[in-house]
Amino acid sequence: MDATETPFITRESLFAMMRVYKDTSLLRTGIELGVFPHLIRGDSAASVAAKTGTEPRGMRILLNALAALRLVEKRGDEYFLAPGGAELLDPESPQYVGDMVHVFASDWEWDALKRLPEAVRKGGTVMDEHAETPEYGYWQHFASYAPVVARPTASTLAEALTDWAKGRDTLDVLDVACGHGVYGCTVAQRYPQARIWALDWDSVLPYTQEEAVRAGVADRMSQIAGDMFEVPLGGPYDLVLITNVLHHFSADRATRLLERARSVLKPDGRLGLVGFTVSEDASPEAEAASHLFSVLMLAWTYEGEVHSQETYDRMLTAAGFADARTHSVAGLPFRIVTASPA
Ligand SMILES: C[S@@+](CC[C@H](N)C(=O)[O-])C[C@H]1O[C@@H](n2cnc3c(N)ncnc32)[C@H](O)[C@@H]1O
Repeated sequence: MDATETPFITRESLFAMMRVYKDTSLLRTGIELGVFPHLIRGDSAASVAAKTGTEPRGMRILLNALAALRLVEKRGDEYFLAPGGAELLDPESPQYVGDMVHVFASDWEWDALKRLPEAVRKGGTVMDEHAETPEYGYWQHFASYAPVVARPTASTLAEALTDWAKGRDTLDVLDVACGHGVYGCTVAQRYPQARIWALDWDSVLPYTQEEAVRAGVADRMSQIAGDMFEVPLGGPYDLVLITNVLHHFSADRATRLLERARSVLKPDGRLGLVGFTVSEDASPEAEAASHLFSVLMLAWTYEGEVHSQETYDRMLTAAGFADARTHSVAGLPFRIVTASPA
């Protein structure tokens, strides 16, 4: 290293990494206690404490720490939400993102990541309950809170199908491991002939139903409850969607799911995939979000990880698909792949 070059690793950068979980816990606490809406027009710690059923001492320390993070501004004895907060941290705002704390910073993730050294030693999850546990409770939270992040990708996927879908009389869609169901519902909103079969665990499907009602497509949605590797899939379908699912499994197991999808597709049907991918020749820092997501898969699944683009190609070919086309989603680390039966 050149003597004038600043090293990337410094005491400060390491200490910042060691501490950053405290920022997460402060944001999470502010959201969980419903603090932020009270600060839109400014309020004192004692008053916010009374309105949120907390102790004034606790609220004062929390608000000062939130001010230290610049989420809040302190003026005299009053605390104000910093600019941007009224849009993003007020549950009444259409742009509210606070609920995503239940996904990105849930206890399920924290508890699993605390045991990351064990997962690295073992090469897979050491948790008693994890993403592959039937009816895993986290999936209800995900289905309830994650629609907000799925909508842009779902619109891009629905758009990518336009040329193929527009002339079809039927558009019967199987949405495998649908979760909140935003992908199937978005297709149904865009194509009036579409009918959706939403498949997930029984405990998740009530949230899918809520989304279908919100989207105005509940009269065109049926549900299939059960294990996607076992449950009869019905069909044949014009479109099978498998979104944000294949990274839970090894390439072999993911290929088995793709084969199931292939077996219920009409000959001129389409498969629609969405997920993180990595490229075999790109550096991890260029695809940071995907590599960091693989860590969660290591902590939370037996053999899952973000698969490479090349692995996706091999899995699709092995499962009987051809003509794979990739569509990027602007500003997001996801790829959308559409493919046809070979
Ligand atoms: C990451 S979420 C994806 C949800 C949605 N497709 C999306 O793109 O946001 C994974 C979903 O897979 C479901 N799931 C996991 N294993 C399953 C299985 N064996 N059978 C059915 N659903 C399963 C979970 O309940 C959860 O809703």
